[in-house]
Amino acid sequence: MKTVYVALSVDFIHHGHLALLDRARSLGEVTVGLLTDRAISQYKRLPILTWEQRKVVLDNIKGITRVIPQDTVSYADNLRRLRPDVVVHGDEWSAGLLRQVRQEVIDVLGEWGGQLVEVPHTKGVPTSLDNQRLPRSGLTAERRLGMFRRLLAVRPIVRLLEVHNGLTGLIAESVAAEVDGRREEFDGMWLSSLTDSTAKGKPDIECIDFTSRLETLHQALEVTTKPLLFDGDTGGPSEHFVLTVRTLERLGCAGVVIEDKTGLKRNSLFGQDAGQVQAEVPEFCDKIAAGKRAQQSDEFMIIARIESLILGKGQEDAQHRAQAYVEAGSDAILIHSRSPTADEVLTFCRSFRERRQDVPLVVVPTTYDRITERELAAAGVNVVIYANHLLRSAYPAMVGTAKSILEHGRSHEASAACLGINEILRLIPEGGR
Ligand code: SPV
Ligand code: MG
Repeated sequence: MKTVYVALSVDFIHHGHLALLDRARSLGEVTVGLLTDRAISQYKRLPILTWEQRKVVLDNIKGITRVIPQDTVSYADNLRRLRPDVVVHGDEWSAGLLRQVRQEVIDVLGEWGGQLVEVPHTKGVPTSLDNQRLPRSGLTAERRLGMFRRLLAVRPIVRLLEVHNGLTGLIAESVAAEVDGRREEFDGMWLSSLTDSTAKGKPDIECIDFTSRLETLHQALEVTTKPLLFDGDTGGPSEHFVLTVRTLERLGCAGVVIEDKTGLKRNSLFGQDAGQVQAEVPEFCDKIAAGKRAQQSDEFMIIARIESLILGKGQEDAQHRAQAYVEAGSDAILIHSRSPTADEVLTFCRSFRERRQDVPLVVVPTTYDRITERELAAAGVNVVIYANHLLRSAYPAMVGTAKSILEHGRSHEASAACLGINEILRLIPEGGR
């Protein structure tokens, strides 16, 4: 009997997959190489189901002899190990990003005279590159929550974009750019206190109450599938924080970031001028520990944000706090800085990494915006937050439009910079996006 290899990155199985597997089964004994999160994250969004959950489904489909991991987009390692007679794939991969993968399969099979069989793509079902619009029906709050840790495990750096309403949520969800043949997207969202407050015409001083922040959160969650990290300001008193944790977790937030400040919170980017006070270490540790005790799942993350560099307390204070917060249960450390260069953040990250390799590091490069994601990742950073850019770019555009109308006594001059009427009418279709 011939041996057949089928690589699958399936999330939810549909009749197109079954047709492909039927064909594979007719050709011999089928091994499925089920792409891991790491492999899938190299070219498209993570599936909703974990590898283990996807494997359970495939294990129960008749005619599949075994399911093994394929840990890269490239088939080469698995093929050279198994030396199958046949590889079966849908015929929709000769264009675009998977073209090179296809060519490599043909070349490697050629080493022992193996054959590639391409099955016509089933009409009306998504292609291998086409999970960009995830089925919302499969996305429970719990699955969204777990997605962030899965991304942390496989992405060189996880990229979050600020959102402050449904529309910005849609942008974070769907904007993609092609870079060197790869599709780049944001991995998730940051529900910023600065932009949430500013969008409501209020200062960023924790005066937007949690109920109102929740309304913004609902708007973003309602129209997206990606993970979301909530900016929890100082977290308030521990007695409030535990309730916040439970609510955010129930809604499927990946986690909450709390900053080690006390008293009236001001935005960190004011620095020392605003008279901000850093919390005492034991007091802040108690809050972290209380939050950790309150959460129900293992996945929800409480992330301590250190303000020592913002407040001129220096590296040693920042390192000391990082160790204490991690010991208190913090799942990651956000080190903040308002320096025009990344130097102090990189110094912190490198020296933190010498002590701890297992705790994710998060940064917010607003002022030090020349640093690249690649450079941050090389210093041990795991998450980068673009914390305010959608609102900051929208504001000057809106002011410019308002001024133009005043200056010209009509809107004609402003229209050129506006979304067309047809486009705005169709931006959100009736069924929603
Ligand atoms: C936010 O986006 O609200 C933040 C980051 O907390 S910063 O504005 O830099 O403090
Ligand atoms: Mg904030």
